Amino acid sequence: MKVAIVGTGHVGLITGCALASLGHDVVGTDASAAKVEMLRRGEAPFHEPRLDELLHAGLADGSLAFVGSIADAVAGAEVVFVCVGRPPVGLGDRSLTAVEDSAREIAVAADDGVVLVVKSTVPPGTTARIEKVVRMERPDLRFSAVSSPEFLREGHAIEDTLRPDRLVIGAGDDRGIEVLRRLYAPLIDDGITLIETDPRTAELSKLASNAFLASKISFANSLARVSELSGADVEGVTEIMGADPRIGSAFLRAGIGFGGYCLPKDIVTLERVAARLGYDFGMLREASRVNDEALEAVAHKVEEAIWNLEGKTVAIFGLAFKAGTDDVRGAPAIALASRLMAEGARVVAYDPMVSEATGEDEEPIELVSDPYTAATGAACIVVCTEWPEFRELDLARLKGVMTQPSIVDGRNLLDAQALTEAGFSYHPVGRAPIDLE
Ligand code: UGA
Repeated sequence: MKVAIVGTGHVGLITGCALASLGHDVVGTDASAAKVEMLRRGEAPFHEPRLDELLHAGLADGSLAFVGSIADAVAGAEVVFVCVGRPPVGLGDRSLTAVEDSAREIAVAADDGVVLVVKSTVPPGTTARIEKVVRMERPDLRFSAVSSPEFLREGHAIEDTLRPDRLVIGAGDDRGIEVLRRLYAPLIDDGITLIETDPRTAELSKLASNAFLASKISFANSLARVSELSGADVEGVTEIMGADPRIGSAFLRAGIGFGGYCLPKDIVTLERVAARLGYDFGMLREASRVNDEALEAVAHKVEEAIWNLEGKTVAIFGLAFKAGTDDVRGAPAIALASRLMAEGARVVAYDPMVSEATGEDEEPIELVSDPYTAATGAACIVVCTEWPEFRELDLARLKGVMTQPSIVDGRNLLDAQALTEAGFSYHPVGRAPIDLE
């Protein structure tokens, strides 16, 4: 089938590459001409396992192409995916201008019978709005508007797209469902669960899934505070909880708090959407507050470990918002670095995948290319991303270059016993610290 992708960010590019690998003819476009040029040359604008491989294969066999305008991408397409960016948190959920503008442009160029698929994470009712915009622009056009949210995780995006837990098609008419069933046929034939519903339910399900995952993490982070106060071990508590299949162990890891481009924003969006409809979804506000508190708790541990920050060096291990990605958007490490720098600390960071970053107010963060250089002259190391390689560090060498051997483990990643034996004071989250002084 001929497919157009409008917006080649994380969701759009992954969707396009995955659909091309399934045998469809995909044409992508983006508002950034520079990005379109990069993609034409076969350069992916972000890191994702297997992305380069699928991008190169699609360009080579002609199943994937990138063009400079929505009109060129959409001409002749049976299905058009709307994957333009979702609004930043500060602007709230009303800022869907990019979605509206692209809908208008798509309408102008679309072929009769086209199915518009909204992939971006949007408040319920957005697909219906898009339908209205298109109808106003082209009263003559026969089309269907469908919501088909994605649930892909960064770092697993291709795998999550080709082997999703569930496929959701939220359509107001049979034709939308019929066309998307044909599009997703290779996945449906593979036995992937398909859930057909109405557009508003599909839209809300995406926001709800992210808000629930975020709330689950905040529950674990509140338990970390109670564990610290009561002498319990949060890792043991969540292991025991997670063994109950009704609870499940995923997304129960306490630490520095959730970050990224999606969870922090979507939990706020759902709370605001509910408020606008007249419902106070207060537990989501509380989950966001607990997330800020989780970061603050890690900052306190640093102060606890080294006392005054002024004039001291703190090494941050890991800037990405989670392991397996080079994405620092909404990363807790960035917020922590800004907080520590504002209090007078010198921050030196190391991340295996990130080579440049700025703080919350665009202040540059000093980045070095190996962990031992980052730790040189530091009074404290803070683990902010759960990169497995941090478990393999040469502890004696680290201790040798630091001014004070202390580690704050914002991910409960390291081996407490090995650190104690190596002579470090160790401050994990939600479990007893080991202070050698
Ligand atoms: C999230 C969702 O997991 C995807 O299903 C969704 O499709 C995506 O947002 C999106 O809306 O596009 P992602 O942002 O890639 O995916 O990141 P997650 O794997 O959900 O992790 C989010 C944050 O929570 C990270 O900072 C991670 O370190 C943190 N986290 C995760 C915890 O602190 N504890 C946990 O137990 C799990």
